[in-house]
Amino acid sequence: MALDLFSPVKLGAITLKNRMVMAPLTRSRAPKGTGVPQDLNVTYYAQRASAGLIVTEATPISAMAHGYILLPGIYTDAQVAGWKRVTEAVHAKGGKIVLQLWHVGRISHPSLLPNNELPVAPSAIQPAGQTYTYEGLADFVEPRALEAAELPGIIAEYVHATKCALAAGFDGVEIHAANGYLLDQFLRDGSNKRTDNYGGSIENRARLLLEVTKAVVDVAGSDKVGVRISPVNPFNDMQDSNPQALFNYVADQLNQFNLAYLHAVEGGIHGGGESASFDFEQMRKLFKGAYMANLAYDKARGNAAIASGHADVIAYGVPFIANPDLVERYKTDASLNEADSETFYGGTEKGYTDYPTLPA
Ligand SMILES: Cc1cc2nc3c(=O)[nH]c(=O)nc-3n(C[C@H](O)[C@H](O)[C@H](O)COP(=O)(O)O)c2cc1C
Repeated sequence: MALDLFSPVKLGAITLKNRMVMAPLTRSRAPKGTGVPQDLNVTYYAQRASAGLIVTEATPISAMAHGYILLPGIYTDAQVAGWKRVTEAVHAKGGKIVLQLWHVGRISHPSLLPNNELPVAPSAIQPAGQTYTYEGLADFVEPRALEAAELPGIIAEYVHATKCALAAGFDGVEIHAANGYLLDQFLRDGSNKRTDNYGGSIENRARLLLEVTKAVVDVAGSDKVGVRISPVNPFNDMQDSNPQALFNYVADQLNQFNLAYLHAVEGGIHGGGESASFDFEQMRKLFKGAYMANLAYDKARGNAAIASGHADVIAYGVPFIANPDLVERYKTDASLNEADSETFYGGTEKGYTDYPTLPA
């Protein structure tokens, strides 16, 4: 029989009961201050455990990695204990869950950082746009360019967070190198104007991602690590002069790690369009491991991408916000709940854990 969304699959060490992945989704519902996942978060993830795999919301790896309000973290003992309750609840329902490791780089604001420090970035370039702070919307600021000597410290934060994620019982980790955050800021030349070994050529701009990946793989094992990229996503004021060459190189270089998967956002998120044309099939062919495709997939496109061999698994974002039982709905061709974008970020259980499931 031909493969489809409901066929089991192995991504590295992680066995999935189906090929429908819940995409990483920031929902800003962790308690202020501690970043410790709470009961509400446990319920939300457990409700979605019928996905073949859950990728958690992007989760800051250190206090300096924060860029939005009400985020959970993955660097203190209390956060590990909080996440452990999430992984146990998902596992109890037969689900699998990996944590998305996040450093926002310049997409932040001093009021969200320790001692009102400036956000850090490859180069001191202020992104256009605004961020939510606890005092309301505020312009992004001009970040401080990281010294090359500081980069081992950033890598060490990824290592520490990976150890925390494993201690919390996650099945693996996903390195967030997409959507205009720190690692993506190093990759793309619109945000990286460095003149040292981490800027200029494609090889240099990819260096930090590859060093982080190596360090995370050394801790977690290659078969428990995925990487997420978004080659032509303009979100967070991002662009690159030659994304095809850059991300073909990245995909090819990542082969050396024998990763669990490569995850690609195949366009611009939040309806933002694409920053350039891009041949995802070409990049996908260069990558020898499993490929997770994302962006505006539905059941038909998902099945077609799996049947054609374009993708091994499909990540669904907004559909999983509104449909905790998305797998069952696709299996039975049931209608879908509409997502309410007003309740995407922050707030209570409304628009978070109260979307109805199909009658049993
Ligand atoms: C509310 C919301 C929060 C998101 N948070 C994250 C995130 O934390 N990490 C990430 O990599 N992408 C994030 N994304 C992007 C989604 O993972 C996904 O790429 C996007 O929704 C497109 O997939 P879809 O068309 O299936 O929704 C977010 C998207 C939405 C709508």
